[in-house]
Amino acid sequence: MLFSSVLLSFVSTVGLAAVVTPRGPAPSSLEARAAAGDRLVFCHFMIGIVGDRTSAADYDDDMRRAKEAGIDAFALNIGVDGYTDQQLNYAYESAARNDMKVFISFDFNWYSPGNAAAVGSKIAQYASKPAQLLVNDRVFASSFAGDGLDVDAVRAAAGTDVFFVPNFHPGQGSLAAVDGAFNWMAWPNDGNNKAPKPGKSLSVADGDNAYLDWLGDKTYMAPISPWFFTHFGPEVSFSKNWVFPGGSLIFDRWNEVLQKGFPMVELITWNDYGESHYIGPLSSPHYDDGNSKWTNDMPHNGWLDLSKPFIAAYKNKDTSVDKYITDDQIIYWYRRTLGSLDCDATDTTAGRPANNDSGNYFQGRPDGWQTLEDAVYVVTLLTEPGTLTIASGDQVVEQEVPAGANLVKVPAAVGKQRFSLSRGGTVVLQDTSLMDISNVCPCGLYNFNAYVGTVPAGFNDPLGEHGLASLTIGLHVTTCSATPSLGTNPPTTATTTATASTTTAGPITTSTTSTTSTSSGTTSAPSPSKTTSEPTQPTSTSEPDLPCNGGTNADGETGNYAGLCSFACSYGYCPPGPCKCTSRGTPGTPPPPSGRDGCPLPGEGDGYKGLCSFACSHGYCPETACQYC
Ligand SMILES: *[C@@H]1O[C@H](CO)[C@@H](O)[C@H](O)[C@H]1NC(C)=O
Repeated sequence: MLFSSVLLSFVSTVGLAAVVTPRGPAPSSLEARAAAGDRLVFCHFMIGIVGDRTSAADYDDDMRRAKEAGIDAFALNIGVDGYTDQQLNYAYESAARNDMKVFISFDFNWYSPGNAAAVGSKIAQYASKPAQLLVNDRVFASSFAGDGLDVDAVRAAAGTDVFFVPNFHPGQGSLAAVDGAFNWMAWPNDGNNKAPKPGKSLSVADGDNAYLDWLGDKTYMAPISPWFFTHFGPEVSFSKNWVFPGGSLIFDRWNEVLQKGFPMVELITWNDYGESHYIGPLSSPHYDDGNSKWTNDMPHNGWLDLSKPFIAAYKNKDTSVDKYITDDQIIYWYRRTLGSLDCDATDTTAGRPANNDSGNYFQGRPDGWQTLEDAVYVVTLLTEPGTLTIASGDQVVEQEVPAGANLVKVPAAVGKQRFSLSRGGTVVLQDTSLMDISNVCPCGLYNFNAYVGTVPAGFNDPLGEHGLASLTIGLHVTTCSATPSLGTNPPTTATTTATASTTTAGPITTSTTSTTSTSSGTTSAPSPSKTTSEPTQPTSTSEPDLPCNGGTNADGETGNYAGLCSFACSYGYCPPGPCKCTSRGTPGTPPPPSGRDGCPLPGEGDGYKGLCSFACSHGYCPETACQYC
């Protein structure tokens, strides 16, 4: 045992050779913090998007990367899909061998608050695994929603005194049996799950206060999130289209969290690409529920870099992040078009009705878009003061920035985005973003996701084949293909610098900007270069790049998918969770649109959503799985 764990830690050290070991103060140990139930850092992880993973190894990069950033445990969000247990087993196994912790977060979109036994028995199934997070020596669990759940019955079914911190809501759930509660509202909002409106505006701190008042001395788990944008149109059955104001939220919120010092925080999320609040890599293996339309070429890894020194400070109850910054780094983000750009003619939602039972569907620009600014946000994490130069298109701003973590916000302009830091007249950091701000609608869409970059540049992080599978479905332009198009930066094989963009960030013009300040830390992320590739079935010259033109149910998935997969894959839509591609080449032309959308039968899992939507809308709506909705 000892030998194998030494061996494993050797292997993982090699895997992370590129990572800079933090030189700031050592954080308080997980053991000490978990025993006290204080200063714990979690990150929400969607199991529902990774049904195509085939081994525990598919989780290793996520586990190592999160641990390296200081995240203590992943909150594994589960529904009731057929692959859930398979994936939980992989995740627990990978966590154990990477010295990470995990716990289950029950998603009550799928679980029923009336069925406490199902929740408890699922907890029991994983409770004794080595990677299970214990808090106060008790098995930890959480949820998304779930008010009304009988928590005593959960514990009875679990057979253990679960430390339960569900996402119950003040005034709705009962506090009697819980240990604490988790607040999901990580974004400024209107009190009704949409962006603030005049006269209806709640800050994230307002949510903190509502929970703290309600909880008394029970544990509060506070949310932290960078962004929110979702843009599903009639091409899927779960159409939704809105934003919450992101802006400088992640920087502001981390500073607030350090001041307030909550006992637990949960980052929302690692891999919810559909709502654009992922801080994990695009290359983390997952299938495409349609989100690739706005996530392709849009890495967010800089937000994990940004979080890292704040996590270290938070764990040590430090209210300043300054001494956790050990390397200079610039992190920047912006939207790739200005809010005024009109994409109505080609957008997937503009002028296009879709199912709106959820009340979350809007046509055209996402609901709440007016709350987003046309701005470039730049956070400097500096060991010493410097001069920051930001060139957004033709607009150049130069600004003195102090040591520590600092935010500078400048107006966004169309063109190249360039950043440089100099000291004493010498440039110490400089790069041009791989993503320009453009006046062309990307893939014809209102894409209000954020592009996040860093100087020095991070690793090349393309979506994998599965993560791109639905990109073109429902698009109204033909200029967009399902391939990553950002340059490799740095090149995957070469060692250092070079590549793209070494344009000089021309200083000269200086306008004024406002500065806010705080502190900091850093690290460049390990080099990834991992994409899922399932063994492609040997058709004659089976290049993996060819579209799929035949398939069946994926290994381990129910044969109930077979007909749907066979139909959909033959036309090039072969979602890798439920289906597997068995031949490649030119896909057939699907039957004309039936004008009706399809939904899974009640009780069927997420895996049916895209398939029923695609199949029924083309006239094949098998009654054993789907219905018209
Ligand atoms: C969808 O429902 C919400 C809530 O009722 C409403 O505000 C919105 O306008 C609806 N969307 C469309 C496209 O009708």
